[in-house]
Amino acid sequence: MPKLNINIDHVATLRQARLSSEPDPVLAAYLCELSGADGIVVHLREDRRHIQYRDLSMLKESVKTNLNLEMAPTTEMVKVALKIRPDMITLVPEKREELTTEGGLNVLKNKKKISTVINKLKKSGLFVSVFIDPDIVQIKASKDIGVDMVEIHTGRYADSTNEQRQVYELNQIITSSCSAADLDLRVAAGHGLNYSNTKRIAEIELIEELNIGYSIICRSVIVGIERAVREMTQLCKI
Ligand code: PXP
Repeated sequence: MPKLNINIDHVATLRQARLSSEPDPVLAAYLCELSGADGIVVHLREDRRHIQYRDLSMLKESVKTNLNLEMAPTTEMVKVALKIRPDMITLVPEKREELTTEGGLNVLKNKKKISTVINKLKKSGLFVSVFIDPDIVQIKASKDIGVDMVEIHTGRYADSTNEQRQVYELNQIITSSCSAADLDLRVAAGHGLNYSNTKRIAEIELIEELNIGYSIICRSVIVGIERAVREMTQLCKI
């Protein structure tokens, strides 16, 4: 059974919509851990659209399981990572205009730049993963630059609109996981996983960890709304 790490970025998205103090991602992380999560994931984006530096710093103090910081391979973010020292780093590509992380990191094309970042992080003793498409070429390039783990992008699998396409994408993920494991890389997977498509990925034995965010935060709004309304109705009864 893979470990389940919860990405809590979108708790912060909701808070930032009102520039308010709630919902608090630190409290959400605590409740995720209390409910059995194996780790907490946050992406500190360049435009700070959801998670803020203060959240990250408080999470570093409060997370008891495993804190995974997703970040772009930039000088600014390396400084943040070396200061905060989360349990692990996942390097992801980042474009300002994208809605979410749209593709994997092109390690092959940006080998020199990414390798410099990885060297700095590894030299200070940090555990480093890279988020890549299920592609053998990217896996080999990741091995070459000394990462500890690869996170396989499950977005194309999750977005498949028919069974045939989904099985094709699933096989790409299985083959890539095998190639990574053959190279002694640890394997995680994530992106777009939800309550109907996660089981098939969780069955892949070589995948040690799943990183899931959006679907869990969406579901928590829906399954929690009844109680929230009931509590307010009670309050209104005077
Ligand atoms: N893994 C990585 C590297 C991501 O960037 C994201 C999205 O922030 C996820 C996993 C989780 O994706 P989702 O929110 O679609 O579950």
